[in-house]
Amino acid sequence: MHHPLLNLIKNKKLFTQVFKNFGSPTYAYSKKQLIRNVSAINKALKANFKKFQICYTIKANSNPHIIKTLKSEIPHLGADCSSPGEIYAAGLGGIRPNDCIFTGNYESNEDLDYAYRKNVHINLDDINSFHRLKKIGIPTEISFRLNPGFGKGAFSQVVTGGKNSKFGVPKHKIIDAYKLAKENGVKEFGIQCMTGSGVLDPNYFPKLMEEIIKNIDAIMKSVDIKFNHVSMGGGFGIPYDDNQTPLNFDKVFKGVSDTFHSFFKNKDIPELWIEPGKSVVGNTGVLLASVTGIKKSYKNFVGLDAGMETLMRPALYNAFHRVYKIGDLEAPYSEIVDFTGRICENTDRLAVERPFPSIQEGDLIAIMDAGAYGFSMSHQFCTRPKAAEILIDGEKLQLIRKRETIEDIFSKCEIH
Ligand SMILES: Cc1ncc(COP(=O)(O)O)c(C=O)c1O
Repeated sequence: MHHPLLNLIKNKKLFTQVFKNFGSPTYAYSKKQLIRNVSAINKALKANFKKFQICYTIKANSNPHIIKTLKSEIPHLGADCSSPGEIYAAGLGGIRPNDCIFTGNYESNEDLDYAYRKNVHINLDDINSFHRLKKIGIPTEISFRLNPGFGKGAFSQVVTGGKNSKFGVPKHKIIDAYKLAKENGVKEFGIQCMTGSGVLDPNYFPKLMEEIIKNIDAIMKSVDIKFNHVSMGGGFGIPYDDNQTPLNFDKVFKGVSDTFHSFFKNKDIPELWIEPGKSVVGNTGVLLASVTGIKKSYKNFVGLDAGMETLMRPALYNAFHRVYKIGDLEAPYSEIVDFTGRICENTDRLAVERPFPSIQEGDLIAIMDAGAYGFSMSHQFCTRPKAAEILIDGEKLQLIRKRETIEDIFSKCEIH
């Protein structure tokens, strides 16, 4: 299937304007696509659940204007946060603390203290986290992250459930975790489970819910508690190439709902929470880069002003991102090239051995599906300032984060 922003990047005039106004590399997000994605998820949930909450995963893209744009479409939007910084970003985007879930892992006392003081929902990754939290205070409500013993993800590095995963409470300890919380005065409970990212198999999510329900059943039988919410995490994949099929959210949530509601038929029904990141922002972002140098070596290299410091995913996971020449999508492929940046690492590649049309220094390139884990994973290796971010709203171009400067990078240094 073709990329939903294909028509946008055919618009050479628009992207030339982006380049003129803001330079490159620049992350450009489509407002229309943001709204489309979050509304589709909301609609599919609404059709299958009376009580639900979308907790947008801040780590996917923490730009406050993006969060605010999502919130303007879904007024009851919540946030999934993994750090004090993400709780702060959710607040800047207008999300209330009571709509945030904080899921740490190996979090410090300061992290727990921040979450406790902000009054967000605290989701604990381990029984030991509870012992540490207890020294700070006992919240009215708590949830634990269940590691069900299996997981699934687009790459082994993003599988977060199973025996090799550092996350969550293993199922043989989950009953003890809730017992401990109850004995220590916790009054209300939730449960959370997130087993991996980038899953495109719609049948996986009902299977995951079945496993969560089995654990809920065992906990309720041994500890005599009720659950206010059940969060099945995120992990809803998106196509990164034309051969992949997008997830059908109606099918996903119909399957999840069948399992969920057949268990809770004669019981108090908890809210279903999901924590989507990639499926909300992934395909909304294009990384605009300029060709800085072309080298014919043992391979053909196209050098860009964006590299692994701008978009980590290819160097980190060998992830595939579609790359197009702005405004010239139909040009015949004339060569096979590697797209690289200006970083002094040989893993600095944004795409490897790609058939591509003829290309010159100064041409503009679009790297697709850069909206999730793009800017938020970017860094300053080789002392390269971070990219600018803009929002495209029809013909309107809105700067939502200024390009970092070299001076910004050193602004916290003290030279004695
Ligand atoms: C706890 C938690 N929830 C949700 C997500 C969102 O995952 P995705 O972007 O795949 O939807 C993540 C991602 O790492 C996560 O760690």
